Amino acid sequence: MMKLNTSHALLKESIESYQEKVNELHKVIFERTGAGNDFMGWVDWAETYDKAEFERILQVAEKVKDKAEVLLVCGIGGSYLGARAAIEMIQGLYSGNKTEVIFVGNTFSSTYIAQVLKHIQDKSVVMNVISKSGTTTETALAFRVLREFMENKYGKEECKERIIATTDKARGTLKALADKEGYETFVIPDDIGGRYSVITPVGLVPLAIMGVDIKKIMAGLYDAYKELNTADLSKNPAYQYAVCRRILQNQGYDVEMFVAYEPQLAMLAEWWKQLLGESEGKDGKGILPDSANFSTDLHSLGQFIQEGKKVLFETILEVENPTEDLLIPTDAENSDQMNYLAGKSYDWVNKMACLGTIEAHEVTGGVPNLIISIPDMKEYSFGYLCYFFFIATAMTCYMIDINPFNQPGVEIYKKNMFRLLGKPTK
Ligand code: PA5
Repeated sequence: MMKLNTSHALLKESIESYQEKVNELHKVIFERTGAGNDFMGWVDWAETYDKAEFERILQVAEKVKDKAEVLLVCGIGGSYLGARAAIEMIQGLYSGNKTEVIFVGNTFSSTYIAQVLKHIQDKSVVMNVISKSGTTTETALAFRVLREFMENKYGKEECKERIIATTDKARGTLKALADKEGYETFVIPDDIGGRYSVITPVGLVPLAIMGVDIKKIMAGLYDAYKELNTADLSKNPAYQYAVCRRILQNQGYDVEMFVAYEPQLAMLAEWWKQLLGESEGKDGKGILPDSANFSTDLHSLGQFIQEGKKVLFETILEVENPTEDLLIPTDAENSDQMNYLAGKSYDWVNKMACLGTIEAHEVTGGVPNLIISIPDMKEYSFGYLCYFFFIATAMTCYMIDINPFNQPGVEIYKKNMFRLLGKPTK
């Protein structure tokens, strides 16, 4: 289903030489004996997820869909990026969906929230607020403002039909507030952390409301769980990828640039950056995850990649079949001199740009390129891809003795910000 091509990766060690290490860590992952093992619910989630809750997600989505001219999704980090990545990947950027999704609660920008408020003023709004802790300031603040807007517009009674909370099953202020107000609630499992949570109600609720087929996502996730549950490096592209990252960092590359040739994958890159960056960037270790969208960024960052300091390798996410394609028309006058492409497909041009760029970067520029292929940008592929990157992240982090499931560093800005905001310490 997903393949890794290392023929342009300029590897100086063989992947197979890591087989013994991978055998050992594969056991650590599947037997859940490593660091952070209380956050490994994602490992078999494709099998163990709450089926009744899944059905309820489908029912609630069906119920609110018609009301949702605008769906507000209020959350940040792991409670935001996955849903946005999936919606954009699967539906594209101009899908014609009758529901417009707007992501809020992921910034303190006053201009942003004020403009959202103006934009939704006369629209029919449904909101899904998502926060595991229930106390994240960006999310809680936006929720307060938007809840007030909705209560003024619809009254508290109608808000019960329009506000859905996804949060911890028992703890936290959001859970208490949702229960008090009578909102529909969905549970974020205790043992799945934010950046691994798109496969739980965190991602599935907004996806279902937007009309994404979440059963197909779970089918892709399940197949990946079955197929990637092997330590055999020759059969497991996710572990091959995990090993390649380590080999390339050993060769001195401290930056990984995630490259896609589809603008609708830009948010997937953001999701991937959180997954790798928050999981691995600890104890002065890790590879900095960066991203680019080609060919757009070949006209900007391309110069650095080609001829700048040799700090990075590229990981290309290649899409075999585009969601849509079209043929380039012939122009009788050929005044733009583009007739040499007449009759060719747009996607063929994109693929030729990719091949030419790999050659430029690898052969001329000496920049290693890993190529991960997915068949398409549909639901099943998204579900599969999630598992691929989850398990690759666990493996690649354990290889350098990093706990992939905590994020102690993100607390420090909060502490300083709370002091400046005068938050009561209790
Ligand atoms: O990966 C993570 O754990 C974080 O990005 C969280 O998802 C993010 O901080 C939001 O947290 P919460 O869902 O508690 O509001």
